[in-house]
Parts: sequence; structure tokens; C-alpha cells
Amino acid sequence: MRAGAGWWSGVIAIDGPAASGKSTLARRLSEELGLAWLDTGAFYRAAALAVLRAGGDLDDEKGAVGVVGRRVISQDGGRTFLDGEDVETEIRTPRVTEAASKVAVLPGVRDIMVQSQRRWVEERGGSAVVEGRDIGSVVFPDAPLKVFLTADSDERARRRLAELGHAPEASAVQESLTRRDRKDATRATSPMRRMPDAVEINTTDLGPDEAVGRVLGLVRATRAAR
Ligand code: DC
Repeated sequence: MRAGAGWWSGVIAIDGPAASGKSTLARRLSEELGLAWLDTGAFYRAAALAVLRAGGDLDDEKGAVGVVGRRVISQDGGRTFLDGEDVETEIRTPRVTEAASKVAVLPGVRDIMVQSQRRWVEERGGSAVVEGRDIGSVVFPDAPLKVFLTADSDERARRRLAELGHAPEASAVQESLTRRDRKDATRATSPMRRMPDAVEINTTDLGPDEAVGRVLGLVRATRAAR
């Protein structure tokens, strides 16, 4: 489509569980539509890294809020920055991945993340492709287009293994995904859930091109209806 900046305005919210294809879809959409792309999971990962580096306790909300509230987390060109330092590689390690799902449970940390994510989008004129777990429900509940991605857990484990580029026990990867999904979906504050106005797309048997094509179709239809 390569519609160019200005063709679409507002947030396109992409929510769904780990390894459902959110990042690939969000990045490709942002390229096609000339929009900024925000990966909010990376914000939780950077927050967890800040707490780990400070030697903090990941279950101590007050302590974690104290650490995260003093840090600046941002993203640019698909890379994530903590106080200006590029931490994109470090936040993808298994240690930070597990820590992120712990700090994401803390309401005080979520408040800080939601504010900085909204500010990030505002600074880019209010239009962006934003991926996460609570984008359509909490961060941008008025987003004109909400997509909820799913995929079977076997397929998601296969994708995560391929992404890791090495071969840890397949069962360990699946176990970790399942544990994180359960935590994300059952936490008291902003659990991951599909909003009634979100369009669900199951990517188990869809290649990235097909998934992008489907969402571009939704983008066109949403724009025509506005
Ligand atoms: O998408 P991801 O795997 O990079 O996300 C890292 C963690 O952050 C994961 O446990 C879910 C959590 N998260 C969240 O609670 N809310 C978001 N909007 C994005 C991610």
C-alpha cells in the first residue's frame, strides 16, 4: 500500500500473547503506512533491566517504582534505550524476559509505563502502530483499529525457538511462554484480554505477508468508515 504519512491518523493497537507475531506485523505495518512503531513489551523489559541493575527486588512495588520512575525509557528505529543507553540486545536475554513478566504485574510500574507510552505516541503526532498486551484496553482504548493476534501454543514455541537462534529444550521454551501468558492474562491490573471491538486474527497458519495483508485490509475499511 505504501500510503505515506498522513494517510492514516490515530493508533493501530496490536495486542496478543508472546510470539503470536505482533512485532513482525507491527514493524511491517509501520513500514507500509509510514507510521512510527512502538513495542511496549520492550518498555517493561527495560524497566525490569533497570530494577535488576539496581539490585532491586522484582516483587517490591515501592522499590521498583522508585527505580523505574527515575529512568527514561525510549525507543527509536526499533531499538530500546534506557537513560540514553542502547539496551536492545540485553533486554532480550532469558533473565530479563522472566524479570519483565514480574515487574509487569506491579500497578505502580504499569502506571509509569502507560504514561511514557502515551507521551511517546503524542510526541509523534498521535499516530503509530503500538503493540503490547493492554493497548486496546488501557493505553489507547479509543484506538480506531484494534487487532488481537493469537496462534496455537506449539506454533508460538516453534517461532520463539527459531528467533532465539540456538536450541534450548523445546519444552522449556513452551513452558516459559505458557507461564508468562498465564501471568499476563490473570494479573489483577490490566490483564491481557481481547476487547469486544478488537478483530481477532489467528496466525497459526498465516505467513507474515498474509497477516500484513489482512490488517491492511482492515486499515482500508476502517479509514473508509471514518
Ligand atoms: O511482548 P514482550 O514479550 O516483549 O513483553 C515483555 C513482558 O511485558 C511480558 O511479560 C508481557 C509484559 N507486557 C505487558 O504487561 N504489557 C504490555 N503492554 C506489553 C508487555
